[in-house]
Amino acid sequence: MSILNTPYKIKNMEIKNRFLRSATVESKADIDGFVTDDLLELYYHLAAGGSGILVTGAAAVEPAGKGFAQQMCVFDDKFITGLKKLADIVHKYGSGCRLAMQIFHQGTSGYGFSYGALDRGYRLNDIREEDITTTIKAFGTAARRVKEAGFDAVAVHGAHGYLLSEFLCPATNNRADQWGGSLENRMRFTLEVYSAIREQVGDDFPVFWKMNTSDYIDGGNGIEQYATVAKSLAKMGVDLIELSGGVEKQIQLRARLSKEAGEREAYFGWAVDAMKEAITGTNTALAVTGGIRSLPAMEHLLKNGADFIGICRPLICEPDLPNRLLHSPDKRQSRCTSCNKCLMHIARQPLKCVEFDPFRSVLAGVSR
Ligand SMILES: Cc1cc2nc3c(=O)[nH]c(=O)nc-3n(C[C@H](O)[C@H](O)[C@H](O)COP(=O)(O)O)c2cc1C
Ligand code: SF4
Repeated sequence: MSILNTPYKIKNMEIKNRFLRSATVESKADIDGFVTDDLLELYYHLAAGGSGILVTGAAAVEPAGKGFAQQMCVFDDKFITGLKKLADIVHKYGSGCRLAMQIFHQGTSGYGFSYGALDRGYRLNDIREEDITTTIKAFGTAARRVKEAGFDAVAVHGAHGYLLSEFLCPATNNRADQWGGSLENRMRFTLEVYSAIREQVGDDFPVFWKMNTSDYIDGGNGIEQYATVAKSLAKMGVDLIELSGGVEKQIQLRARLSKEAGEREAYFGWAVDAMKEAITGTNTALAVTGGIRSLPAMEHLLKNGADFIGICRPLICEPDLPNRLLHSPDKRQSRCTSCNKCLMHIARQPLKCVEFDPFRSVLAGVSR
């Protein structure tokens, strides 16, 4: 039996295997952020596809924190009814599949910054102190709604140049007050968001955190600073840390890192040792995401310190990849070519694998 098929327990939540679907903006909510039938259908397929745990695409904790026109929202109790349906469908058809909702605030630059497009010129220093406090509370109440909707965990987007990551990164945090300057000050927002969430969901509800291993920009944080952040979060009781990286030009960055990683595939795998050491003595689990495509690479990571394998794009083109790799004779690696066409697609249209869209060849023959 593959090590990928061994269960793992986080608090009282048993996770049937080590596949974690990494958060993926679906752009399938309606324009106001409510759950649609399209979303329910996607999660039906993902749940039936065999992943141990699914993390939803980033859901906005405040209206101003929205980064994508049709992302899910969780800034009001009115969203709970739809979210309940999402949790129900995963629990009904997922054979024990678990569901976490990723909660998010886009930060100061809005959609596109993280992927190398527009920077609207609004900086962290422009945020008023009272608005910082409001946003911290918004993360807490969003987490409470996630729990009320019947999800198994809440996951925080602390990476990729969005608000939490902007506070942490010295190159994007230009504040001179208690929220900027030293690492201790830059971490304050992250730790206060964690405390606000814990206060709302209680000690028994699993809280996950996606964070950078390096910002990959001049003047940004590296592994030393992020290991300190991980250590603090783990000591406070965060249940799972998912490793990622980068704050801008993600498409170019990931292509470069993937090339450098070669057969190792996992381009943030280098950070496992340092992060594992940072969280030693705590109950925090470690997930690694980014570029992982084949069974040998996954098993290697699990044997060398990771507890979960995070995959995003492979599940866009094959939602049943975990079942295929674990329970069928077909052990070929994911067919995802990492072309990123899906990533460009979600800016304006619902998520899909553009590369292997069966209708693509027909479209190619039609002038548009
Ligand atoms: C279409 C698309 C949407 C994404 N949306 C999110 C998101 O909502 N939250 C997040 O933390 N990361 C998001 N990511 C990043 C992925 O979770 C993941 O970290 C990255 O794609 C690398 O993993 P992979 O090689 O398995 O795709 C997204 C990536 C893609 C391609
Ligand atoms: S569009 Fe490209 S990157 Fe996205 S899932 Fe399909 S093959 Fe993978």
